[in-house]
Amino acid sequence: MAKHTNPNTDKSPTSKTRQPHIDNGLRANPATSIGRQHVESEEALNSVVEFPTIPFAVEQFASGQQTTAQILSADEATGESTQRVTLKKGWSAPIGHFTTDVEVFVLSGHVRQGGFPLRKLSYSFIPAGIPTGPWTAEEDTVLLWMPDARPTYVTNDYAQLEQIAENSAYHLNAQVHDRMAEYVPIQELSAMNWESTTFLPPGSARKSLYTNQKTGRATWILGLVPMWLEGNFFAGHPTTEEAYLITGDVQGHWSMSDAPFERRYAAMRKDGYYWRPAHIPHGPFWTEDGALLLFRTSVRLDCYWMLHNPDITQRDEIRLQEAVDKRD
Ligand SMILES: [Fe+2]
Repeated sequence: MAKHTNPNTDKSPTSKTRQPHIDNGLRANPATSIGRQHVESEEALNSVVEFPTIPFAVEQFASGQQTTAQILSADEATGESTQRVTLKKGWSAPIGHFTTDVEVFVLSGHVRQGGFPLRKLSYSFIPAGIPTGPWTAEEDTVLLWMPDARPTYVTNDYAQLEQIAENSAYHLNAQVHDRMAEYVPIQELSAMNWESTTFLPPGSARKSLYTNQKTGRATWILGLVPMWLEGNFFAGHPTTEEAYLITGDVQGHWSMSDAPFERRYAAMRKDGYYWRPAHIPHGPFWTEDGALLLFRTSVRLDCYWMLHNPDITQRDEIRLQEAVDKRD
């Protein structure tokens, strides 16, 4: 029987146990460590809303009393993870800084981070060491919580200060931090313009939320118009890729974790999710009603293309010639 692990608190780097819903059919030798496990299944693509719920606890930040988490995918050794966290209205945390980078994307509700109102469809990138807060859930809030490792929250430096927004924003730990340029206290989707995408056909657009200039690691929103078609190809990339469907549908040929090299049809729906290792080919995809997705890659996204159905291109000519030759 699998132990119910919690990547927020389980400090054992040698843990062999796994979240039951994440252990969804990987056939690879377990000694072939890939960090996070491949999460791509009909269940996860359909909706993660019913995934198991555990207390969400980060010392000094959240006790698990008013805070719960659903683990969508996780590296159980490091705590690097994507979690769907619920904060009850009235939850609060003092000014502090995390010891690892943390990304936050609000799906519904309203949580105040110091002077920044993180409302529905707001994003924040918080580098390790930059003070934030005080935090308050103004409403019941559901957000994606995406730490680079299991964070701790340091409050000692700020405990003597009045707990007001100015005291985190004005603090020297913030104003002279060498990664201040990476800090995104808030990006609200509804206030951002769409940009053209690099690889995809017309009918797609993006809103860039975070890009690491050195590695190309990125977080962005992808929008697809209704009836958008990707085309007659599929692709792999030298980066992990994950996405959460905020609204709409994405249909097509998925690389399920129980058979990652045999793509099969499924529909991704609202609150569907996947996390895919690098170089697992996937697609093509299309949408009926349009789609809005949160995307993340661990390094720069380059694409290696393959034809999806060669019969309608080069091989058609070969077959035609064969038929002509036979007739003659
Ligand atoms: Fe992709």
